[in-house]
Amino acid sequence: KYAADRFITVIPELELPGHEMAAIAGYPELSCKGEPGTPRIIWGVEDIVMCAGKEETFKFLEDVIDEIAPLFPSEYFHIGGDECPKISWKECPLCQKRIKEEGLKGDKQHSAEERLQSYFVQRMEKYLSGKYGKKIIGWDEILEGGLAPNAAVMSWRGENGGIAAAEMGHKVVMAPNNYMYIDYYQSEDCTNEPLNIGGLVTLEHIYSYEPYTPKLTKEQCGYIMGVQANVWGEFIHHPDKVNYMAYPRAMALSEIGWSPAEKKNYADFRERLAGCLAELDRQGVTFRIPEPIGWDKAIVRGGNAIVDLKPSVEGADIYYTTDGTDPRLYGKLYTDTLQLPLSFSGVNIKCYLRLPSGRSSAVYTVVAPDTK
Ligand code: ACM
Ligand code: ZN
Repeated sequence: KYAADRFITVIPELELPGHEMAAIAGYPELSCKGEPGTPRIIWGVEDIVMCAGKEETFKFLEDVIDEIAPLFPSEYFHIGGDECPKISWKECPLCQKRIKEEGLKGDKQHSAEERLQSYFVQRMEKYLSGKYGKKIIGWDEILEGGLAPNAAVMSWRGENGGIAAAEMGHKVVMAPNNYMYIDYYQSEDCTNEPLNIGGLVTLEHIYSYEPYTPKLTKEQCGYIMGVQANVWGEFIHHPDKVNYMAYPRAMALSEIGWSPAEKKNYADFRERLAGCLAELDRQGVTFRIPEPIGWDKAIVRGGNAIVDLKPSVEGADIYYTTDGTDPRLYGKLYTDTLQLPLSFSGVNIKCYLRLPSGRSSAVYTVVAPDTK
């Protein structure tokens, strides 16, 4: 209701048949071997998955759906479908029996076990559409083994899954990990950043993403419903860190979701963002404080390096040093354009921002002009 009042539709994801170790730990009979296990405590892809040969598995999942579906009035229901190794299915007599009974055959494109995953997903689709009138959405692995009719695809391993689905006339959400994974680092200087899973998606990089790929025709692009960014939580143990990872990249996400490509302008976005971030600062949201506007635009003129900085958050102060020392200890308040004679060693400007709330950024090194 809170979301609906704000025109937001929440779509639940029930991951299946992989990434189910927590459920299997509670109900070991749901896996192929039925052995006792424990939930994972670090990230990773587990070989122990739900058994596709046992009817109990489907009964269990249908029971979970019976609890979740009525809570979420969304048109779609996300059934996961990603990262499900087929090792246990290959060795399981019940899974192999199912493959035989259903006449699932491997070919050059798909193994019999991939077809079994497709069988699994299609059964869930039938249940969700039959009982609740819901459409399913799943990660791009649901393409493997054949896509369920009416299934929408969330493309996470790059765009190829989304492109293939749109070519087949299926709805798509673009969430390619090389642009849309905002659990990745947001700065090349990872010594400045809290520990994360890896990868790099800067604010400018996510802003540059265009979901209507030129690899699809205009008509095919019509199947792209929009974009999603993912903040996976394996390295996030506190709500403040969720906010640190989500903002300001979520604002870039909004703009690429809402704006046609020709209306996008990163420099203009940064100017507007400064006001939004001042508001978040007033609300006490622990967003990542971006580098000052202009930090990567130093120019050389008449033997001088000219550095024009603007706070990335309205009302923030910038403190800087020009000799490589720590601006938190020795910084001077930035008030006007810096003109620094270019010496043999170039320029070495470090700075940080202090927000009206008192919160400080990390120390950023201004990208100096090439003096060679
Ligand atoms: C995913 O990141 N495994 C969807
Ligand atoms: Zn099995």
